[in-house]
Amino acid sequence: MKILAVSGSLRSDSYNTQLLREAARLAPAGVEIELWDGLGELPIYDQDLEDDVPESVRRLRRDWAAADAILFATPEYNGSVPGGLKNAIDWASRPKLEAVLRNKPVAVVGASTGQFGALWAQQDLKRILGIAGARVVGTEIPVSRAEEHFDAEGRLLDGEIFEQLRLHLTTLASEAVPAPDRVAA
Ligand SMILES: Cc1cc2nc3c(=O)[nH]c(=O)nc-3n(C[C@H](O)[C@H](O)[C@H](O)COP(=O)(O)O)c2cc1C
Repeated sequence: MKILAVSGSLRSDSYNTQLLREAARLAPAGVEIELWDGLGELPIYDQDLEDDVPESVRRLRRDWAAADAILFATPEYNGSVPGGLKNAIDWASRPKLEAVLRNKPVAVVGASTGQFGALWAQQDLKRILGIAGARVVGTEIPVSRAEEHFDAEGRLLDGEIFEQLRLHLTTLASEAVPAPDRVAA
C-alpha cells in the first residue's frame, strides 16, 4: 500500500516535511510512504486551463490518484492553510466527478513554531479536504513550538508525538484497505 505524504511547506528545513519523514520511518508493515514534491511547480488554479492542463497538474493528478491514501502536513500561515497547499487541493478537486480526491482516504498533521501547533490550519484543511470529496480520517496532531521537538537530524524527540503519529498512520492505512478486506480483518 502506498501513502503519499504532502507537505504544505516548501522550506528546505520545514518542520512539517520533517514530520512526514518521521512518518515514513515508522510506517506500519506493508505501507510505503513517499514524499510528494510537486507543490511548488503548480500554477495558480485557473479554470480556463482545464481543457489542456499543464504537465505539473497532470503529474499531481497522476500521483495523487495512484496513492491509496494521502497524509498532509500543514504549517499555519496567518491562521490557516498555506495558499500553495490550498491551490494543490483546488487542482485535485476537479473535474468534480472524476477528481483524484474523491473518496480518497486522507489524514492531517501539522507543526508550527507557535503554541497551538497549526491547529486552525489543520481544522481548515480537514474541512477543505472534506468539501473536495476526500474521506478525512482521524483527528488533528498539533505539534506546537516545533523547534523544540526535533533534533539536529530532524528526528522527533517527543515520544508522545511519535506514538500519535504511529496511531494516525495505522488508522489511515486501515481506512485505505478496500472495504471487503476491512470487514474480513
Ligand atoms: C507567512 C507566515 C505566516 C505565519 N502565520 C502563523 C500562524 O498564523 N500561526 C502559527 O502558529 N505560526 C505562524 N507562522 C510560523 C510558522 O508556524 C513557522 O514558520 C513554521 O515553522 C512553518 O512551518 P515549516 O517549518 O514547515 O516551514 C507563520 C509563518 C509565516 C512564514
